[in-house]
Amino acid sequence: MAALVQAIRGMNDILPSDNAYWHQVESAIRAVVLQYGYSEIRCPVVESTDLFIRAVGTTTDIVEKEMYTFADRNGDSLSLRPEGTAGCVRAAIEHGLLYNQTQRLWYMGPMFRHERPQRGRYRQFYQFGVEAFGWKGPDADAEVIAISARLLQNLGLREYVTLELNTLGSFDSRIRYRKVLTDYFRSVESQLDEESRRRLESNPLRILDSKNPALKTVIAQAPLLMDHLDEESLAHFTGLREYLDAMGIDYVLNPRIVRGLDYYCHSVFEWTTDKLGAQSAVAAGGRYDALVEQLGGPQIPAAGFGLGIDRVVNLLEAIHATSIGDFSDIYVMAMSKTLHIKAMSIVEELRNKFSSQRIIVHCGEGSIKSQMKKADKSGAKIALIFGENEFLQGAVTVKWLRESREQEIVLLNQLDQFLKEHVL
Ligand code: HAM
Repeated sequence: MAALVQAIRGMNDILPSDNAYWHQVESAIRAVVLQYGYSEIRCPVVESTDLFIRAVGTTTDIVEKEMYTFADRNGDSLSLRPEGTAGCVRAAIEHGLLYNQTQRLWYMGPMFRHERPQRGRYRQFYQFGVEAFGWKGPDADAEVIAISARLLQNLGLREYVTLELNTLGSFDSRIRYRKVLTDYFRSVESQLDEESRRRLESNPLRILDSKNPALKTVIAQAPLLMDHLDEESLAHFTGLREYLDAMGIDYVLNPRIVRGLDYYCHSVFEWTTDKLGAQSAVAAGGRYDALVEQLGGPQIPAAGFGLGIDRVVNLLEAIHATSIGDFSDIYVMAMSKTLHIKAMSIVEELRNKFSSQRIIVHCGEGSIKSQMKKADKSGAKIALIFGENEFLQGAVTVKWLRESREQEIVLLNQLDQFLKEHVL
C-alpha cells in the first residue's frame, strides 16, 4: 500500500459529522451582521508580507514567529494572512471605500498562524470579523461590542463568556506610558528573558504580552497604563462604558489586556471563557485609529473585532457535551429499478415544494434490510418505501424510524399534505 499523505499539524479537516455546529455559527453570524447593517467583504488569503509587518507590527509574536511567509515564483515575499483586519483595510483603501464615507464591513474565513497547536489553537483557524470605519467616538466601539454580545447570546453562550475591557489610551498617553514602563523594566532587567530585553528597546509594551510564564510576576507588578491616561483617553473610555451600561452589556475591567497586535489604541476587549482551558479568548478586538493612514489611506478612525469560530464551536460542543449530527428528514427507498426511477422523479417534485428539508434517495442497489439500515443511520424521521403493490394503487409506504408507530400507506396525491402535517 502507498504511504499515506497526512494533513499538516494544526490544520484540521472539518468532517461532515462536525459541520452542524459550524453551520449553526455561520448562520447566526449572517443573521446578526444583517441586523446591524454590515456588508460582507472577501479578501485573498495571501497578501504581501509587508502589509502584515506594517499593520500588525514588526515586534509582535505574529510577525516575528508565526507567519507563513514564502517567496513567490517571481521572488516577491508573500504571507498567508494571520488575521483579517490588515487585508480588509488594504482592500478598503485600494477600492476607495474610505474616502468621504463611513463603512461597516464584515468577513469570515481561514487565517494562518504557525503557533504550537493545542486544543483551541490551530495553525489554520477561522475568524469572523467586523470593522467599522469612520467614527471616532465610543459609539462605534459600543456597536461592535454589541454585535459580539448579541451573537454570543443568540448562540446560547452568553452565560459561559465574560467581556473583559481595557483602554490603551491615545497615542500621546501611550508615549508617556512607554517611558514609565521602560524605566520599570530597566529596573528589573536582570529578570527579563532575551526576547523581552530586545523588546525593551524596540517596543516595551510588547513585554506585557509575553507568553513566558517565568515573567508573570515581573509583568504583574508593572505600572498600569490605566493610571497614565490623558483627559481625551479617559473621556473616550468613560463614554464607552456609558453606552455599554445603557445597553445592559456587562463587563469586567482588565487593565492587563494589551492585545498581541500593535495597531490598537483606546478601547480593547476580549470575550473569554473558562470552559476551553488555556485558549480562553473566543473573540477580541478594539479601536485602531491610525492603521488606515499607516497603510497609505486617509486619516480614518476604526474599530472592530475578530471571533474565533473554531473556539466558539469547541465551546458549543463542550457545553452540550456532544456533537449534533447532520441529519436528514426523509429517506426514500424503492423495491425495484422501475420504482426507483419513479421515486427519483417524485422526490424531485417534493424538493420543488419543500425547499429546506433534507430528502435522501437511496442510491445503488441493496436488499430491503440493507436499505433500512442506511435509512436508520441517516437520522431520518421517516422512510418512504416505494413497493410494487402500493404503487399500483397510487400509494407509498411510510415507515416511522424514530417512533414506535405502525407503518402506514399514504396515497401519492395526499403525500404533500401528509408530510406537512406529520413530518416537516
Ligand atoms: P486576535 O485576538 O489575534 O485579533 O484574534 C481574534 C480571535 O481569533 C481570538 O480571540 C481567537 O478566538 C481566534 N484565534 C486567534 N488565533 C487563533 C488560533 N491560533 N487558533 C484558533 N483561534 C485563534 C485579531 O486577529 C484582530 N484582527 C481582531 C480585530 C479585528 N481587531 C479589530 N478588528
